[in-house]
Amino acid sequence: MSDRKLRLGEELISPLHSLYDGLQVDGSPRPAHLAPTHPVWVVTRYRDAKTVLSHPGVRRNAQEAAKLYTRRTGMNCPQTGASLSQHMLNADAPEHTTMRDLVSHAFTANQIKKLEPYIEQVTEELLDTVATQEKADLMADFAVPLTIAVIFELLGIPEAERNHARLSWERQSQLLPVSEANALANEQADYIKKLLEAKRAHPADDVFTGLVQAADEMKQLTESQLVSMAHLMMMSGFETTMNMIGNAIVTLLCNPEQLSLLRNQPELLPGALEEIVRYDSPVRASMLRFTVEDVDLGDVTIPAGEYVLVSNLTANHDADRFDNPDSLDLTRNASGHLGYGYGEHQCIGASLARLESRIAIGRLLRRFPNLALAVPHNELQWLPITFLRALMSVPVLPGQPELAQAPH
Ligand code: HEM
Repeated sequence: MSDRKLRLGEELISPLHSLYDGLQVDGSPRPAHLAPTHPVWVVTRYRDAKTVLSHPGVRRNAQEAAKLYTRRTGMNCPQTGASLSQHMLNADAPEHTTMRDLVSHAFTANQIKKLEPYIEQVTEELLDTVATQEKADLMADFAVPLTIAVIFELLGIPEAERNHARLSWERQSQLLPVSEANALANEQADYIKKLLEAKRAHPADDVFTGLVQAADEMKQLTESQLVSMAHLMMMSGFETTMNMIGNAIVTLLCNPEQLSLLRNQPELLPGALEEIVRYDSPVRASMLRFTVEDVDLGDVTIPAGEYVLVSNLTANHDADRFDNPDSLDLTRNASGHLGYGYGEHQCIGASLARLESRIAIGRLLRRFPNLALAVPHNELQWLPITFLRALMSVPVLPGQPELAQAPH
């Protein structure tokens, strides 16, 4: 087993937050603890990650996972936000396939392309405000409002309700005590039920109308599943993309040679963003899974009835898959990285995330040729969450802006 640790630039980071400080990259899967009562097998190698994420004996089903927890600990599995959790990311085939089919057509690259003018308009408006500031926080002032505006537009959240919904779903990303998290989930479920009712009564050209109509036609989904699916779209539609934009800005500002390469050759941007997602994936780890049969990984077999955690970030830094994996190389062909997952739960919103981040980062760099971090890199604050690599804020000095121009 290699004892190489994960390194991003000068920083030696824990691939899965401080719980896993000793975790090695390229090592064979090994047991660790997510909590004292919660032993899990942690998978870090690229090839093992792909095997586990596509193995028929590895499951996500939330009810079965809770039963396994009770069998292993003798305790009831703590349930948070149960009223919003019956969605496809917590289901296995065939239920997973049925639910995914309801929305997948809305997330194809062609469908998403229609949003391009809207994303450009919101991006420019937000950057106009950034340009008036001496110091800005590119999370609060840019990445968060942009990604929320875009997903709400796509899903069809009425304009008058966006502010309220935004505050509510932003709270969802915070670490709340269980009772508060449950109260928030019930409130959000009530809001979604009313919203979907309104879409039934007054259909529009948006994803939620399509979701309600397809579900009504199919008659296979419970109301709770429908509401949970709508919630999954709202939540996953902005949380990861806003973190990706924040991480991308910091990654570029901390790698000035690579940044100037990109400034000189803006056509590198789409490939550069793939490399940035490989290098500093906002999703550090896939959602927790469990085995229902022995899973053979060559040198190690994970027995049936075990929890498994795949570290996408470490897999993306596996030297057997990517040459010189701990360096950022914006000219690298990073395709095949696991930043958007792998297997049947692979990210459904990847086309949207790619378009949004391309417009956001491209326009930001063009408008602000002297953009700089306002604090030293080691003073940036990361959220203490195992599954996400997320910045609390990105303080910058925008510098003298260029006048807004037509896109390349
Ligand atoms: C840079 C931005 C994004 C990243 C890095 C990302 C990453 C991921 C990853 C790694 C997974 C797999 C999770 C697992 O297997 O446990 C996933 C699934 C998912 N993502 Fe994304 N995502 C991003 C943006 C989006 C957007 C914009 C949407 C829009 C709705 C979205 C919707 C989803 C959904 C619904 C799933 C579950 C799919 C399923 O269960 O079949 N994501 N994402």
